[in-house]
Amino acid sequence: MDPDIQEILIDEQQIARRVAELGEQISRDYAGRPLALICILRGAVLFVADLLRAIRVPVTIDFMAISSYGNEAHSSGVVRILKDLDDPIEGKDVLIVEDIIDSGLTLAYLLENLRSRRPNSLEICVLLDKQVPRQVELPVRYTGFTIPDAFVVGYGLDYAEKYRNLPYVGILRPGVYSEARR
Ligand code: XMP
Ligand code: MG
Repeated sequence: MDPDIQEILIDEQQIARRVAELGEQISRDYAGRPLALICILRGAVLFVADLLRAIRVPVTIDFMAISSYGNEAHSSGVVRILKDLDDPIEGKDVLIVEDIIDSGLTLAYLLENLRSRRPNSLEICVLLDKQVPRQVELPVRYTGFTIPDAFVVGYGLDYAEKYRNLPYVGILRPGVYSEARR
């Protein structure tokens, strides 16, 4: 285990099993409807790569990069698009794939933004749902895991761009970051 990790929350096998289940569920729900996945960069990259291979219906993938104003621990809900989708989504069945939902502000902004492009349907799939009071209620259709209110890294999630390569999701040792996160 990486010495900066205090505790492994979700190990590789658990992730693989859950992603396979999500893939089956999504394949059932979208049977007969081509699906357009939107991966939110950068945290959802590992998740979407595994999920994509677990989906058994025709599927496309596009990417969007956003950055939240404010510090890394608290999103402000004011989101800047760093990279927009390459393709239009009008009339498509769209599934947003995100790494984690915390306050919900980031996804609320994305939903509103994407909804204005008139997709046929728009749903959300998150790997991790942090158990904190939502600042906005959101219809999350697919959730990988519910996790406690801790700062987590690994399997795509970073702290200062590090730890994305860890094959598991773990809680970062508090000594690694000096400032209080919450
Ligand atoms: P909101 O509060 O807008 O936050 O739902 C979602 C975004 O905040 C980041 N985030 C985290 N990133 N470990 C991370 O690596 C975490 O524990 C964590 N909590 C929130 C993430 O970028 C997500 O898109
Ligand atoms: Mg980050």
